[in-house]
Amino acid sequence: MKTTQYVARQPDEKGFIDYPESEHQVWNTLITRQLKVIEGRACQEYLDGIEQLRLPHERIPQLDEINRVLQASTGWRVARVPALIPFQTFFELLASQQFPVATFIRTQEELDYLQEPDIFHEIFGHCPLLTNPWFAEFTHTYGKLGLAASKEERVYLARLYWMTIEFGLLDTPQGRRIYGGGILSSPKETVYSLSDAPEHLPFDPLEAMRTPYRIDILQPVYFVLPELKRLFELAHQDIMALVHRAMQLGLHAPKFPPKAAA
Ligand SMILES: [Fe+2]
Repeated sequence: MKTTQYVARQPDEKGFIDYPESEHQVWNTLITRQLKVIEGRACQEYLDGIEQLRLPHERIPQLDEINRVLQASTGWRVARVPALIPFQTFFELLASQQFPVATFIRTQEELDYLQEPDIFHEIFGHCPLLTNPWFAEFTHTYGKLGLAASKEERVYLARLYWMTIEFGLLDTPQGRRIYGGGILSSPKETVYSLSDAPEHLPFDPLEAMRTPYRIDILQPVYFVLPELKRLFELAHQDIMALVHRAMQLGLHAPKFPPKAAA
């Protein structure tokens, strides 16, 4: 398993997590900057979620605050986890409508570039759309399928997750927008993903599952949904049949250079 320099903070007996002031400052820097960058770039459903969550700017929110909003909208909640969790735990949580949040925040030195999902990524990136019933339904279904899947099947499911929940784009009457939380929590990728530099492909779950990715680079290709409701429809299709088809067909050649040996 991968290692991390980060340690998730523990709550006191009342469930309150006491972050040091320097960490609230990092949150403040990140949210202030990112709220500007997503203007005209994030999809409306995400912005609706941002409005519902009313995230504080000057401090890291407590998980209870997020839960109150998610519970009232879609019945989801966030679950406090250590920095890195096994796939099994990840799927167990999603299958019970709990989204994992590691209670640590990146350091000032890693403001722009972080491979490990911190509390800013999880809350700012993912929680707004968890207020949306279509997105919530897809994520829930995904968790249940992942829980029942074999190790090999999970690898294909992981690519589907990556190309939707993390790095998905969406066509809207106003133009192309972002819904993927991996993009929306990164200022650089928020701008880059909608530029002419990467390739945009119409969303096809089979193709998404067959597309390799690297977690440490800007994505060379993004899949574009015709509308967010497409995820809800997908949740009611036979996703595992698509996984098996993708396993038969195999992976596409990567559109990025191999990772340099460490
Ligand atoms: Fe994520």
